[in-house]
Amino acid sequence: MKRPRVAILVSGTGRSLENLAERMASGELDIELALVLSDRPDVQALERAERLGIPSAVVPYDKSAGVAAFSRNVFDAIDAHACDLCVLAGFLRLIHLPDAWIGRVINIHPSLLPAFGGTGFYGDRVHRAVLEAGATETGCTVHFVDNEYDSGPIILQRRVPVEADDDVQAVARRVFEEEKVALPEAIRRVLAGM
Ligand code: GAR
Repeated sequence: MKRPRVAILVSGTGRSLENLAERMASGELDIELALVLSDRPDVQALERAERLGIPSAVVPYDKSAGVAAFSRNVFDAIDAHACDLCVLAGFLRLIHLPDAWIGRVINIHPSLLPAFGGTGFYGDRVHRAVLEAGATETGCTVHFVDNEYDSGPIILQRRVPVEADDDVQAVARRVFEEEKVALPEAIRRVLAGM
């Protein structure tokens, strides 16, 4: 049977992309990485895509053209690569989904949504806010994407404790270990339901 074709959207280091490639190599994930799409030309994720032999595209965000035009360009590229599923893995731009893509775009976020999500909450900023709030638990969430930041139905969450002597890096490390399990599991679940 044909493997599901998955587009990965990135804005940064592409650690999740690397993790997905490792899970594929170990046989835990039966997908084809059909496209890595970045909104920035100079990110490490694109170097990883090249090393992994995955086609890539850069779709820059043009503020004057706005979110609708940006989203059209993003999904035109994804459709040109005949993708079945789209995964936001450290992608930091808002996108609006064409109707045909509702239920086929998922995002991973490094907190237990709805806590510590929305505009301005990304990467280490999330973990800093968790520590400042004195939370004793955090984690990660994989959810379906709608037209807002970090909203949309939750697929799964994984939880970790926050220890008294944690700094941002310690929380980030612990959460990312869970992201490495959560994202492949969520992809498997969504594909099984498609
Ligand atoms: C991951 O921790 C992901 O959960 C987070 O960015 C990190 C990956 O970025 N995503 C968000 O914060 C989305 N709101 P990287 O690939 O640049 O390391």
